[in-house]
Amino acid sequence: MSLRSKRGKTDCVIGLQWGDEGKGKIVDFLSEKRDLVVRYQGGSNAGHTVMANGEEFIFHLIPTGILHRNVKCVIGQGVVFDPEKFFEEVEVLRSHGVRIEGRLFVSRRVHVVFPYHKALDSLRERHAGEKKIGTTSLGIGPAYSDKSARLGIRLCDLIDRTTFEVLLAQNLKEKNALIRSAYKGRGFSFKELYERYADYGKRLVPFLCDCGEIVRDALKKGKKVLFEGAQGTLLDIDNGTYPFVTSSSTGVDGIASGAGVSPQVIGRVFGVLKAYATRVGGGPHPTEESGEVGNLLRERGGEYGATTGRPRRCGWLDCVSAKYAADLNDVDSLIITKLDVLTGLKRLKVAVAYRIGSKEVREFPCQVSALWKAKPVYIEVPGWSEEIGGARRFSQLPKNARNYIRLIEKLVGRPVSIISVGSSREQVIGR
Ligand code: IMP
Repeated sequence: MSLRSKRGKTDCVIGLQWGDEGKGKIVDFLSEKRDLVVRYQGGSNAGHTVMANGEEFIFHLIPTGILHRNVKCVIGQGVVFDPEKFFEEVEVLRSHGVRIEGRLFVSRRVHVVFPYHKALDSLRERHAGEKKIGTTSLGIGPAYSDKSARLGIRLCDLIDRTTFEVLLAQNLKEKNALIRSAYKGRGFSFKELYERYADYGKRLVPFLCDCGEIVRDALKKGKKVLFEGAQGTLLDIDNGTYPFVTSSSTGVDGIASGAGVSPQVIGRVFGVLKAYATRVGGGPHPTEESGEVGNLLRERGGEYGATTGRPRRCGWLDCVSAKYAADLNDVDSLIITKLDVLTGLKRLKVAVAYRIGSKEVREFPCQVSALWKAKPVYIEVPGWSEEIGGARRFSQLPKNARNYIRLIEKLVGRPVSIISVGSSREQVIGR
């Protein structure tokens, strides 16, 4: 049960696994009754897929709420912002007749992702050999590194030509030296980058905002705000399976700094948990199934990266890590996604503990060396064969599916409030 006694006025959607929990669909579903949707961390490494009116949209940077015309969307300062990707998404939305003007805002404090960040990301991965993280190569780690090293270039710096010129020159001097000497790469031309990015800066002026101010103003007016998390808790820079993580604060803790608001505004926290587990990229994944079950989940669940197209590593639901993530975010309720993908499996397994050497542990270990050795301790329950995509009430689910949900509630220690049973907007069960 939640430890928070007071409720703020906002809702938060947080992933409880290694990303790809199906948050896109859930944010789209919840956005219908919200006024403002805010992204607060990550960058274009995210891939939020939404099926709307028979069409598939994949968002990397722009909040998923943009498809609801009365909703305003903000990209907060905790995001690392790739202008090229942003304008690509804006074009797709415009070509579908989605109005952007007056509805889409970007914090002037966001740090900009430059081509040298992407180059360094790829080069580091290539040179890491077997130790590589399996990043998306979109420059996320290098951009956050620059931010922490106080070398980053923010949007407010980009639009001020003199400041931009000085900062870009300083950055390129260092980055080009590193790329050329350590990685034998080619380096970047100042003139070309300066002109291209100063132009992006000009085009971005109408979108610029103070994210915290927009949220506070909305709350004062009694509007409903939703914070949209990207990636998942197990990829969090501080609390995830370090170093196999992304470089941002993916949990509820990232909201205050990433959106420029007080943690006091955080209200209900929804933790999104896919009915089975997937991971893309490197790092330990205790319940991974490399054989028939893994392939079946991948094909039935369409488990290929929305950003990179890489096949996701699939396996059984892991309630050791799910409980850890739910407790960390103090989630009020769970949202279970892709329950329909499990239809047809005769028996289902759920990890309740890990065996590490001679010990059985129920706490999620912090060292990856322990996680690599962890053998899941499973309980097995019967599956169901009925198609469930048409169910709209909990009582319409087969008995064994209901029992599976109740088992998750018991093992994670949080109630399930929403169950998704298919990719379209309507395929949702509220409890
Ligand atoms: P980066 O965020 O590109 O630096 O990648 C770091 C790790 O996070 C890699 O294992 C990626 O595959 C993973 N990752 C990053 N973004 C996502 C996401 O949106 N979904 C799933 N995995 C992600």
